[in-house]
Amino acid sequence: MLGNFTYSNPTTLHFGADSLNQLAHELQQYGQNILLVYGGGSIKDNGIYDAVMSILTAQHKTVIEDAGVMPNPTVEKLHEGCALIVTHHIDFILAIGGGSVIDYAKALSVSAHCTSDPWQKYFIEMAPVDNFIIPVGCILTMVGTGSEMNGGSVITNTQTKQKIGRIFDSAVFPKFAILNPTYTFTIPHTQMVAGFFDIMSHILEQYFSGHDDTTSDYIMEGLLRSLIHSSEQALRNPNDYEARSNIMWTATWALNTLVAKGKSSDWMVHMIGQAIGGHTNATHGMTLSAVSIPYYTFILPNGLAKFKRFAINVWQVSPDGKDDLTIAQEGLIAMTAWMNRLGLTMNIREFGVTRDMIPAIAEHVFLLDGGYKHLTKADVIAILNESF
Ligand code: NZQ
Ligand code: ZN
Repeated sequence: MLGNFTYSNPTTLHFGADSLNQLAHELQQYGQNILLVYGGGSIKDNGIYDAVMSILTAQHKTVIEDAGVMPNPTVEKLHEGCALIVTHHIDFILAIGGGSVIDYAKALSVSAHCTSDPWQKYFIEMAPVDNFIIPVGCILTMVGTGSEMNGGSVITNTQTKQKIGRIFDSAVFPKFAILNPTYTFTIPHTQMVAGFFDIMSHILEQYFSGHDDTTSDYIMEGLLRSLIHSSEQALRNPNDYEARSNIMWTATWALNTLVAKGKSSDWMVHMIGQAIGGHTNATHGMTLSAVSIPYYTFILPNGLAKFKRFAINVWQVSPDGKDDLTIAQEGLIAMTAWMNRLGLTMNIREFGVTRDMIPAIAEHVFLLDGGYKHLTKADVIAILNESF
């Protein structure tokens, strides 16, 4: 474990089929006026809304609703939510949903009391948060992003076609997260598998970095094996509690800062995926699946030893009688087969991307330094062309 680090995570997790029972106790610690944030209405269809409202009513909370948070939440929506918070003197934000709803709640928490334009200050300039932060709690309904236990918040500016993720510090992490695996049974198939790939991608972004021996890599191999195993079970039976609960727990640990310890981390798949999202509004996990195999094929020679280890330890590729390159490539072949079994999107054409859009998308890709190869814009264009 190279470098120096501090580990602490302020989010309290309540996990299991009865975890909503913990909500009343959690809410006692916060003020009277609650902003209830949710998406397009799935929580009304599956009963989660009614269950939460009865708890809020029993607590005599004043509830203001901020519904209609869209997948890939926008700057325009953020401004609407900020206005609600100021008008109703909101003390606490309760988010019910997936990454979009929780990310939006975190963006609101830092933006509502910001005296200048929050998009410019916190997402373009990445300035430190120097205003009051409204506390956030969440009830997770869609698994994948890890937003329930991290400081990530991804917001889209539809005018400039920029989708930007900000990693806020621990003051912005949810104070608590309620994780009931049965809530995930109603997720549509496409969203479910996109979430599975998002989990894999989060782990790989951290795994494919560094050349030293770290405990974090062994933890990640365990998480990946659990994800692959349980995803196959969930494909056969989406209501398999054991599989869905394992996946929910894996998703949280894939991106709650633990496995990043001692790692430089890559994140180029996400940078490319986000740029595609900014131009197409495609589902996050699918933007990652569409570019991952071309990206990993591109950088494989620079991280050969790790790709070989990935093939053997995660995909159980037999190394007998094979050279390192063959073993590493067989790992990516096994990963591709798993992705195809899930039914993931494997090219960017399906989002409506055309060849002539590729340079503009590449222009919006942030180039990061933590992985095995430092990409140029020309490399990004080559990878996008391979993903076409
Ligand atoms: O809006 P409703 O009606 O609730 O429907 C949602 C939405 O259409 C539906 N859904 C969620 N739970 C459901 C359900 N439908 C039926 N039953 C349920 N139990 O699923 C759809 C997608 O939801 P969304 O929240 O958009 O999905 P996800 O959790 O994948 O979040 C994606 C957003 O998170 C960002 C992405 O960029 C994207 O904007 N990310 C956030 C990260 C973070 N905070 O650390 C990291 C990730 O890499 C990612 O970038
Ligand atoms: Zn992701």
